[in-house]
Amino acid sequence: MDSKLSLSFFVFLLLVVTISSSSVQAADQLQEFITPILTYWKSVLPQTPIPATIERLLHPAAETENYSFEVEKAPTIYISYKSAATENQMQNDRNAQLFLKRSITPGTKMVLDLTGTTSSPPFLSLKDSMAAPFSSGKLPEILGLFSIQRGSLKAAAVRRALAECEEPPLDGESKRCVTSLESMVEFIEAELGDGDVRIVETAVARGGLVSGRQEYVVGSAGPRLLRAEGVVSCHSEPYPRALYYCHATKHIEIYKVHMLGANGIVVDAVMTCHTNTSAWNPDYIGFRMLRVKPGTEPICHFMPQGNLIFALLSKKANLMS
Ligand SMILES: *[C@@H]1O[C@H](CO)[C@@H](O)[C@H](O)[C@H]1NC(C)=O
Ligand SMILES: *[C@@H]1O[C@H](CO)[C@@H](O)[C@H](O)[C@H]1NC(C)=O
Repeated sequence: MDSKLSLSFFVFLLLVVTISSSSVQAADQLQEFITPILTYWKSVLPQTPIPATIERLLHPAAETENYSFEVEKAPTIYISYKSAATENQMQNDRNAQLFLKRSITPGTKMVLDLTGTTSSPPFLSLKDSMAAPFSSGKLPEILGLFSIQRGSLKAAAVRRALAECEEPPLDGESKRCVTSLESMVEFIEAELGDGDVRIVETAVARGGLVSGRQEYVVGSAGPRLLRAEGVVSCHSEPYPRALYYCHATKHIEIYKVHMLGANGIVVDAVMTCHTNTSAWNPDYIGFRMLRVKPGTEPICHFMPQGNLIFALLSKKANLMS
């Protein structure tokens, strides 16, 4: 080997060693981040594996890294039941995807967007999530931290997410916005307790992702009720870090609806119906769109992929008997 060749061979070796040791380091970091979360998850939710939509959000987040997050593509779920609809929302009502329960029957056709967010900013560690600024009062600081321009669509999404999180819960309900998986699990445990808790999610029959707005036809079985003793819904929100708006909801029914999409996709969609809307704002977008009054007809919405419903199927005592 001549000396030039051996030198470049040496440099090559050095590179290989450096790259593999840094990827070993990254793998170690990932293990260090992920292991306690998985252990905690298993202790609280032994019957439920971590869903793929959550697992991909589990990697250490660089503090100020610009993770992309979508602000327009994902359909909006109108979960601010205490808020009046704005005129702007009324004009964009094609995204509201709200229905009367009696209108969803075998053969019903409707245009829906069940796409989940495809961008995936990661969860924070519990420690980082507790230290991170998270309130409307700190909006300028938050925008600065993630280099988001004031007045941009992203800034509007962050402002809206914070406002939704700060809105007080409905009477007798509880809610928590979480930016770490530990906080999510802790909330589930506090609200649902010990028992057989399962996750229900909108899913494609043969696996994969739902995409785009299209017409769906409800299958011949119609909506199938899932019997649950308690329900917590966690909705993913556009934000520079993984953010879920979780709330323990009363007067709710969970249905699975088998549907065929115009592009041939078969989806098992999750539909939640609110059976007692009497405490909601009379100007809530759903009342205006569907022309019904609070406390009358049940109002339903379809969950886009990646929204998680934690359903307590039976309490521990029942499990053992
Ligand atoms: C994030 O993006 C903005 C522009 O959009 C840029 O100015 C900033 O340097 C980026 N920050 C990081 C940490 O990459
Ligand atoms: C509906 O909710 C209201 C308050 O939110 C409550 O007063 C009423 O009893 C509930 N109705 C039923 C049938 O549970």
